[in-house]
Amino acid sequence: MNGTRIIQLTDTHLFGSHDGRLMGADTNQSFQAVWERIQSSTFNPEAILVTGDLTQDDSLESYQWLKSLLDTSNAPYLWTCGNHDDARLMRQVNPEAMVHHMDLGNWQVVMLNSQIPGQIPGFLSSKELALLEHSLTSNPEKYTLVAFHHPAYSIESQWLDNISLKNAAQFMELIQSYPNVRVVLNGHIHQERDQLVEDVRFLSTPSTCVQFKPKCDDFMLDDRWPGYRELELMPDGTVNTRVIRLEGYSLELDLAANGY
Ligand SMILES: [Fe+2]
Repeated sequence: MNGTRIIQLTDTHLFGSHDGRLMGADTNQSFQAVWERIQSSTFNPEAILVTGDLTQDDSLESYQWLKSLLDTSNAPYLWTCGNHDDARLMRQVNPEAMVHHMDLGNWQVVMLNSQIPGQIPGFLSSKELALLEHSLTSNPEKYTLVAFHHPAYSIESQWLDNISLKNAAQFMELIQSYPNVRVVLNGHIHQERDQLVEDVRFLSTPSTCVQFKPKCDDFMLDDRWPGYRELELMPDGTVNTRVIRLEGYSLELDLAANGY
């Protein structure tokens, strides 16, 4: 049984010039290494989802550089905002990547924007929730993957739970009415999670650059390697997925950093 192959990239935190560093890490270089790994693998994605915090310096050039790499793949891609992003610049660089919906046969992807401009936590506005509900009611026969930046569940890490999705309960209530919602895909927490919440599979994925240590109540960097996620959306509504990391990749992290 073959499914539809998706790649999730998240929290690339790119710079407009290649001498930018995030807590010591050259985020452009680690993203390029992740991208080369994807290009050389046999996975051959049919779609790519980039779930926010694309830029670190709010520069047009950082989005243009990301687009120039993503465009080397034949796979269509969508990107959405994290707390660090500028929706106006993203739309300017690639409006096609800003759409909310992607049809994948017996699955659909709904990409939402959970950014509150100028703030770190997230919120799904009534407009975003209405877009989701519209896709769910319009395509009741399709299994659904919902993607946005801020997790809608506790990850047992106080500092990150404090900056997660503020109206998680509202989102959960909505998707409970639609059993075809099978997967919710997030970024933001720079670590791998895979847990069932009310029978829905919630997945979060390592950043393509720096990682945060799981289950810490205060900010703590993790020296784990950059990564990304492969997903296979199966015809029966289940999902096969795994995180791939750049084994042995050195970010030259400043592990004493106490915030970002
Ligand atoms: Fe991030």
